[in-house]
Amino acid sequence: VIDMSDARTPARRGVTVLGLGPMGRAIAGAFTAAGHPTTGWNRTTGKADDLARRGVRVAATVADAVAASTITIISVLDYAAADELLDAAAPSLPGATIVNLTSDTPERSRRTATWVTEHDGGYLDGAIMTPTSTIGTPAASVLVSGSAAEFQRHRLTLACIGTEPTYLGGDAGRAAAFDVALLDLFWTTMSGATHALALAQAEGIEPHELLPHLVGIAGILPPILTDVTERVAEGRHADGTSSIRSASAAMTHIAAASRDRGLDDGVLRAAWALAKKAIDAGHGDDEISRLVETVSP
Ligand SMILES: NC(=O)c1ccc[n+]([C@@H]2O[C@H](COP(=O)([O-])OP(=O)(O)OC[C@H]3O[C@@H](n4cnc5c(N)ncnc54)[C@H](OP(=O)(O)O)[C@@H]3O)[C@@H](O)[C@H]2O)c1
Repeated sequence: VIDMSDARTPARRGVTVLGLGPMGRAIAGAFTAAGHPTTGWNRTTGKADDLARRGVRVAATVADAVAASTITIISVLDYAAADELLDAAAPSLPGATIVNLTSDTPERSRRTATWVTEHDGGYLDGAIMTPTSTIGTPAASVLVSGSAAEFQRHRLTLACIGTEPTYLGGDAGRAAAFDVALLDLFWTTMSGATHALALAQAEGIEPHELLPHLVGIAGILPPILTDVTERVAEGRHADGTSSIRSASAAMTHIAAASRDRGLDDGVLRAAWALAKKAIDAGHGDDEISRLVETVSP
């Protein structure tokens, strides 16, 4: 028996999950496995069959689903979808806490936070930074921001997603701001990785031949990221060993090699255009960290 008066004990109370895509299913599975009465809802029926066998109650409507639990987690494609669901749930919002773990822009997070608060619901906004396979394990990483009181009330329950979420402050858009900044790195890197595999293949290199070298290049990034970040924080770009002019020449070679094999070179041209803008502004001898200024308005 769990003593609900003990703040150190994860409270066992109802959790609803709206959106049972790969991430929503993983989250609902983690809550039911942790012993929370769990309710699920999805636009397309049938995705909850396996969860239902594991004890998740499937609600008929969004409003019923939100009314069933203290906390409702939203995990859908974007905020257009999330806002539609909240609109349908409006009558059930007073007394409920919405934890929106859908990824979108910081501005949309702030707008949704205001709307939910105006409809007498509690609101936290968040982002999941790790894949579905980590959910329910300590490898999961969840960022949240918004009402500090709501976070204190629900942090132990939310910890069932994996580890306790990282709270980033009262601005509901702050978790989304971290999310877009981090995914900026992730998706431009993955775009580079797929292009690298295509370029290698076009040159007769098998994917498995390239793999150890791809992993090697990824491995040199952490100290470079640290150096670039320190330079940006200190506004120090002039005393490096690798110049923007040199990087620009490398990008030109990769783009030319891509064109030689008929490959799309759009991403490289975009990266090169920024380097050229910095060189034209007289920063060709500076470190790549200078590009943070070049990209800014
Ligand atoms: N998958 C991952 O590894 C991962 C990792 C980190 C973060 N995330 C984030 O988690 C969120 C959910 O991702 P996901 O992987 O589960 O897949 P997703 O494709 O981003 O979302 C699928 C879910 O959104 C629902 N949906 C889409 N449009 C809708 C609408 N207009 N009204 C109601 N529901 C709608 C789908 O319902 P239907 O089934 O009816 O289509 C489904 O439940 C996203 O914000 C994603 O960025 C995912």
